[in-house]
Amino acid sequence: MDSADISADLSEVIVTEADIRVKLAELARRIEVDYADKNVLLVGVLKGAIMVMADLARELRIHVSMDWMATSSYGAGTQSSGVVRILKDLDTDVAGRHVLIVEDIIDSGLTLHWLKSNLESRGATSVEICTILRKPDAAKIEVPVKYVGFDIPNQFIVGYGTDYAERYRNLRDVAVLAPHVYQ
Ligand code: PRP
Repeated sequence: MDSADISADLSEVIVTEADIRVKLAELARRIEVDYADKNVLLVGVLKGAIMVMADLARELRIHVSMDWMATSSYGAGTQSSGVVRILKDLDTDVAGRHVLIVEDIIDSGLTLHWLKSNLESRGATSVEICTILRKPDAAKIEVPVKYVGFDIPNQFIVGYGTDYAERYRNLRDVAVLAPHVYQ
């Protein structure tokens, strides 16, 4: 869906589909150089990462493998607790592999901090992170992120994989959700 289709639900579009396409091409050119001949394993974190994984993987001009994990923060509410539960684990043994985690958004950083050390503890040769969105003002822990698409304000955003109550993931752009939708 386009932002125009649901304009009453949105306050502001902050990253357009075209912006994302251009940025993913830039990131892909860097990744191709960094992982030339390294047989990189892209690890997508369900469900938010499905759009960026699909677009980034197709933009890359090198061979990649792809696998998926699903994680969930313990605790109720919308804030991450930092304690992460694996809902679906990888099918791939990452020992000796170069892993690139692909994410839609880094908010507090707690999920990615945990996931990076979890994959490193399994013997991955390297674990780096690529995220299309990051909220620097929401960070609770410093996570080194090698490939960042857009640093965005700490607002309630939806689209391009990110959701509110499982809706808006299929919005092509990234937009600020209008407060009347969730208040
Ligand atoms: C989102 C996002 C990251 C995590 C980031 O997933 O995809 O995995 O939150 O938040 P953090 O930096 O505060 O840890 P979410 O748990 O919303 O699940 P989803 O991808 O299924 O929407």
